[in-house]
Amino acid sequence: MREKRRLGRSIGLVPTMGALHDGHLSLLKASVEENDISVVSIFVNPTQFNNQEDFEKYPLHIEEDLEKLSKNKCDVVFLPDQGEIYRDKTRLKFHFGSLEKVMEGKFRPGHFNGVAIIVSKLFNIIQPDTAYFGQKDLQQFTIIKLLNEQLDFGIKLRCMPIMREPNGLAMSSRNLRLSSAGIETASIIYKIINKSAELLLTGNSISNVKSFVENEFKNSEARLEYFEIVSLIDMKSIRKIKSGEECALCIAAYVEDVRLIDNTLLTL
Ligand code: PAJ
Repeated sequence: MREKRRLGRSIGLVPTMGALHDGHLSLLKASVEENDISVVSIFVNPTQFNNQEDFEKYPLHIEEDLEKLSKNKCDVVFLPDQGEIYRDKTRLKFHFGSLEKVMEGKFRPGHFNGVAIIVSKLFNIIQPDTAYFGQKDLQQFTIIKLLNEQLDFGIKLRCMPIMREPNGLAMSSRNLRLSSAGIETASIIYKIINKSAELLLTGNSISNVKSFVENEFKNSEARLEYFEIVSLIDMKSIRKIKSGEECALCIAAYVEDVRLIDNTLLTL
């Protein structure tokens, strides 16, 4: 990669854990449009899984992934093995303060430490000009933005929109673990987020919207883990509506034991 850089070619990086879907490919498409060389990394990163079973069940589809990447103009696939990335047990500890006290940080202890380690490694190994991430993992993007600033990586970061299935379900590699009935059940996540946004915009209080969400989940096959309305700046829960504040409505829920997340952005 240093060689390519010396030749003045711009490099775009799309970090993934594989089992690629159209959400991942939309990041690659943006990279191909904006860079001379696009690199996609595929690495199921053990240090970011707080749940061993989730790690073991994480789908692996390398052959299909490589085919999708070559069809979508990826120039380089970085496919390291565990030993290459983690030669020794890593002792690094990142702390992101209040950013990791809510939502994914709260319910998946250690998750963002693992994400920060692998993303730092990928930034150093590939040295991209621009790196592409999805709004689907909004808190992850906020943390990577902070990491990029604090460690002076100097990489341009792009946050791309959430790609969805026809029924509204946010695309995710974990959707492969759902039955067709599960995919139908899971579509309520997006419906509830949208309805909540509408309720907020039509003057309902935050506590009313939270009760609405809890009730909707109680009447469904899905199990709510959290619903939060957070400030886009610091991911802190919003308790009172301030007109003009940019926020995100975020949900994590289980369907058929598969953990799914989704969000939408809103200006109050
Ligand atoms: P993974 O879940 O494979 O996602 C890779 C990238 O694709 C992330 O930036 C994610 O936000 C984005 N993405 C996932 N679903 C999407 C969708 N429906 N629409 C648009 N983009 C979507 O996120 C990770 O891997 C890992 O934590 C990683 C950053 C690779 C570090 O290991």
